[in-house]
Amino acid sequence: MTSLTQLPAWQQLQSLSRNLAGEHMRDWFNQDPGRADRYSLEACGIRLDYSKNLINDQILAGLFDLANERQVGNKRDAMFAGEIVNHTEGRAVLHTALRNFSGKPVMVNGEDVMPEVLATQDKIRNFVERIHSGQHKGYTGKPIKQVVSIGIGGSFLGPKIMFEALKPYWHQAITLHFVANVDGCHIQDVLSGLDHEETLLVMSSKSFTTQETLQNTLTARDWFLKSGGGRQDIARHFICVSSNIQAATEFGIDEENIFPMWDWVGGRYSLWSAIGLPIALGLGYKHYRELLEGAYAMDRHFAEAPMQQNLPVLMALLGIWYVNFFGAQSHVLLPYYHYLRGFPAYVQQLDMESNGKSVAGNAEQVDYSTGPVIWGSEGTNGQHSFHQLIHQGQVLIPADFMLPLNVHNQNEAHHAMLASNCFGQSQALMQGKSYDEAYAELAGKGLSEDKRVSLATHKTMPGNKPSNTLLFGQLDARTLGALVALYEHKVFVQGAIWGVNSFDQWGVELGKVLGNNILAKLQKADADLDFDASTNALISHFRQANPG
Ligand code: F6P
Repeated sequence: MTSLTQLPAWQQLQSLSRNLAGEHMRDWFNQDPGRADRYSLEACGIRLDYSKNLINDQILAGLFDLANERQVGNKRDAMFAGEIVNHTEGRAVLHTALRNFSGKPVMVNGEDVMPEVLATQDKIRNFVERIHSGQHKGYTGKPIKQVVSIGIGGSFLGPKIMFEALKPYWHQAITLHFVANVDGCHIQDVLSGLDHEETLLVMSSKSFTTQETLQNTLTARDWFLKSGGGRQDIARHFICVSSNIQAATEFGIDEENIFPMWDWVGGRYSLWSAIGLPIALGLGYKHYRELLEGAYAMDRHFAEAPMQQNLPVLMALLGIWYVNFFGAQSHVLLPYYHYLRGFPAYVQQLDMESNGKSVAGNAEQVDYSTGPVIWGSEGTNGQHSFHQLIHQGQVLIPADFMLPLNVHNQNEAHHAMLASNCFGQSQALMQGKSYDEAYAELAGKGLSEDKRVSLATHKTMPGNKPSNTLLFGQLDARTLGALVALYEHKVFVQGAIWGVNSFDQWGVELGKVLGNNILAKLQKADADLDFDASTNALISHFRQANPG
């Protein structure tokens, strides 16, 4: 395959980016009142205004040519069809099968996976209904009121952040808690206030080998036993989600209590599998199902809409434009909605674990940038801290603003302020403030000419900073499902263009292995230290502080 940077579309985009020198978005808006309408798109209840980007029709055409030249459409179809697109692990990638409501089969290695998917959804529904109705009780006959979900990475972020985002829909009978960190403070904080007789523990680990999750589960089991529960009662209080059924049974989880998942579901794409069980417990099955339906709607849009009207494709291409042609190294997500405050962390794993790669499919080092740093936090809080750098710093940081047009328990004064801040920020990033404007504002303030010139220079805002604005109605489960799937597919399209495998994560594996080697030495005070000098010294300090 021709190298990405040699493609005609790439070359053309390079020259188009150079042509933008001296241009300003503010002038484009002044000259073209139709710009916002022309560069807006709506699908699955999400409206994207992408007019505040450094683009024109020619640039967009070049970006779509690039997608074409990298065969994004064919790659997308191969993923949906269950082909082995995760080639380094020899796996299909089918989180889309988990929300496939088409009634059509999805084949992996000649076998339809849908019967198993649907059977697991039934199992989830039955279980959730039994918990909510009080049919499944704790061992002393108390109803289950507390659920502790133990998992990390994709087995934590998806359930936690989606549950948090849907607070207005929480089921009143259940309080849901999450434990991820192997730092004992976390599980201690969570368990210390709970009554073990009314607590259900959900252990979520696709691999069933993740150190943090195994240790936290052992600690939870000890807590349960020390609190008065017997070994025979564990089955009523511990369930597990995993693709490694053998390891789960060997660990002592009742086979009946294991909710399966499959190797064709990536960890960071797993919230749609039984990993989402805590969401169903916390919201009720109806809303959980709506979450899946929203994602399915976005799948259909991604699979069927023409490239030019395809939300994930468009967002992916805009991202590529800044990463590869403007040297942007990060991308900020700014949800203007308190309950969506965790969303940047969710997309951080999704995007950075997927596209933080440097080797392309042909096993060659790439000579272009790939996945950017994803970060962000809730608006309006960020305005009073890190937005300064986005406005006036030396780095280009494209932004995604997100705002629900209606909120639950609407407090009009607050909501209008929230929206005005959201819109004001993207406007400020786009238009900036010229030196002349800043200078004029300082008239009549009794400043010397030198001081006035100096201050006006400091107050000048370059503007011309790109952003997307995503608007939706009330954030319900369906809209949230569509939003998550939108980012999943955006990441897919970018990976397809960069030619990386978005579905493996070899980079995180080495740390796990080295961490285990070190643990063995920490636990044995007299073990020889044969690592590098820095690691040896760090271990020695730890041993001194923790003798015996
Ligand atoms: O360490 C990274 C990772 O492999 C993620 O991809 C995954 O979501 C997480 O660990 C948890 O893995 P598991 O569900 O197998 O415990």
